[in-house]
Amino acid sequence: MNHPRAGVKGMLLLSSASALMLAALLQGEVPDSDAAKGKAKVTEAKPAAGGPELQPLPATEPLVELAPFMGELQRLTHKLALSADAGNSELARFYLYESLEQFKSIQEEVPEYRGQPVALLIDRMAKPAYDALEKASSKEGATAEDLRQPLNGVIAACNQCHVATQHGFIKITAGTGTNPFNQDFKP
Ligand code: HEC
Repeated sequence: MNHPRAGVKGMLLLSSASALMLAALLQGEVPDSDAAKGKAKVTEAKPAAGGPELQPLPATEPLVELAPFMGELQRLTHKLALSADAGNSELARFYLYESLEQFKSIQEEVPEYRGQPVALLIDRMAKPAYDALEKASSKEGATAEDLRQPLNGVIAACNQCHVATQHGFIKITAGTGTNPFNQDFKP
């Protein structure tokens, strides 16, 4: 699947939308292509009775990119996994809390992304997985073994949502084989 880097994609969309608009201006009509309709809000303008006139420029809505939020979530999830794998439920709960805060920011900043109901999917797909991990990690003396299954549930939720939003090619793993951080995750 063709999936260019999000920033570049945004720029391309903008420039192609304004190119369309320019072409339409020259012809005295409002563009009605998918690109113009879907990616940029085009102010409706009716041609004046006397013939074509200058049209107002389209008001473009800046698109908040989801990928940087996800990148930060990935980092938190990796540390969450390393903490759980080390049987450090106190640290795991810290990263669990930070992950939920990150989800909250995503729901506020990017409730919808390119037609995908991101905020809704987070509530339906991600939150229940975190509830299960929260419960397991809050239990007195929780071990790595106790946390393994609920942690896998969290990772599975990431990937289920990627599939649901046509990004199944982004596959998250626990990544607990080696610790790439300059941080000790042991309790
Ligand atoms: C609401 C559904 C949803 C959930 C839940 C979700 N993601 Fe994503 N994720 C997406 C979408 C959609 C994109 C593609 C964003 C884009 O096109 O810019 C994405 C992109 C990504 C990327 C690519 C960006 C990068 O920096 O490489 C990563 C990594 C990622 N997600 C990690 C995660 C992790 C880790 C979790 C679970 C803790 C998770 N995601 C949960 C929908 C979701």
